[in-house]
Amino acid sequence: MHIAVIGTGYVGLVSGAGLADFGMMVTCVDKDAEKIEKLKKGEIPFYEPGLENLVLKNIRAGRLEFTTDLASAVKKSLVIFICVGTPSLPDGSADLSQIREVALSLAEVIDDYKVIVTKSTVPVGTNRWIKELIDQHKKHDVAVDVISNPEFLREGNAVEDFMHPDRVIIGGESAYAIAIIKDIYRPLYLSETPFIITNLETAELIKYASNAFLATKVTFINEIANFCEKVGADVTVVAKGMGLDPRIGAKFLNPGPGFGGSCFPKDTRALIRQGRQVSSPFKILEAVIEANERQKLRAIEKLETFLGELEGKTIAILGLSFKPNTSDVRESPALTIVPLLCERKAKVRVYDPVAMEEFKRALGSLPIEYASNSEEAVTGADAMVILTEWNEFRFLDLAKIRTLMRNPLLIDMRNIYDPEQVKKLGFSYSGIGRC
Ligand SMILES: NC(=O)c1ccc[n+]([C@@H]2O[C@H](COP(=O)([O-])OP(=O)(O)OC[C@H]3O[C@@H](n4cnc5c(N)ncnc54)[C@H](O)[C@@H]3O)[C@@H](O)[C@H]2O)c1
Repeated sequence: MHIAVIGTGYVGLVSGAGLADFGMMVTCVDKDAEKIEKLKKGEIPFYEPGLENLVLKNIRAGRLEFTTDLASAVKKSLVIFICVGTPSLPDGSADLSQIREVALSLAEVIDDYKVIVTKSTVPVGTNRWIKELIDQHKKHDVAVDVISNPEFLREGNAVEDFMHPDRVIIGGESAYAIAIIKDIYRPLYLSETPFIITNLETAELIKYASNAFLATKVTFINEIANFCEKVGADVTVVAKGMGLDPRIGAKFLNPGPGFGGSCFPKDTRALIRQGRQVSSPFKILEAVIEANERQKLRAIEKLETFLGELEGKTIAILGLSFKPNTSDVRESPALTIVPLLCERKAKVRVYDPVAMEEFKRALGSLPIEYASNSEEAVTGADAMVILTEWNEFRFLDLAKIRTLMRNPLLIDMRNIYDPEQVKKLGFSYSGIGRC
């Protein structure tokens, strides 16, 4: 079966390569010509473990190709996956302009029955709107079915998540189209991955409800951590004690500098907007967004507690991506914290194993020093702040770092170090939610 994937970003590229690995003939389309040129040469435009091998393997097998020519890719495909971005608009709602552009392009070129599958995260009702747009504007009198098939992959673990998902959600009205999509995912069906077949609206909402719930769970433990600091409790032990209750579960109970990334913040905001539109407010989620913004200030508050005025102080920031194993800095806490440090006239030196280029692109205009490793970042610093729990930050030579820093202060926003051991080495230490 031939498949077109429109939008070759994190989701489109992983899905395209994954579907090719399932044996499909896949053409990945993007309007970013530079990205497509790179991909044709087998170069991956972002960091994602295991993706390069999967892409190269399937290019060599002749099952995966890249183009900017949407028309030719669509004409030869029965199924079109839409994987373009749905970023936030200033009012928090999802910007559907990329989706609209793709739907109109499809209406131009479709000349045969097609199944249009939306993998992008889209507000409830969007798939019906896509079908209406295509039906209104189509140049040929052909039938089109739409399917909602939200994607749950996590950056940093995306290949594994796509190949071994916890569940596959298929929303639609046409039994024929649903059967085609089930057929595409047959390798997963055979490995007993749970499939949920439902209507369009339910499928669309499963994605938003999942992300908003996880964002809430993280925010809950962040607030418990803040409370722990006031009352002398240890959040790591509180989380362990909570997580042993199977109704709660241990995952996503790690406090930190606030959640970020390309999904949780924007999807939570978009669900709040959707609720308001139908007078069904999400009070919990409004509080989650507010608390998360406050959480991003915790690192600054801790620095000021130890150092007083930050003007003229050198602050080393370790970790810029919103989580380890990705170069993605979208809505990363570092994007809030670093500008605030600059505003306070601190000297900021940053280091991240893979996200430096993307961070530079986002905050290029700020006077930040980019170090080539952790030790260079902390040399002469008054504090080092760990924002992302990259493995290489778990095994820093702290005894050596102590000698390199002007003032040995470690603000550990991921609780990756044992406070007592660090203090024994002569550091002042502050984690999150433990004294
Ligand atoms: N990144 C994740 O971890 C993740 C996980 C699950 C779901 N999602 C959802 O998947 C969607 C895509 O996210 P992403 O992170 O892959 O985005 P992305 O920004 O990395 O990629 C989107 C791609 O679409 C391309 N594009 C835009 N308009 C186009 C058009 N008209 N024709 C061809 N290409 C076009 C862009 O050039 C870009 O390469 C979003 O809705 C997101 O919420 C993302």
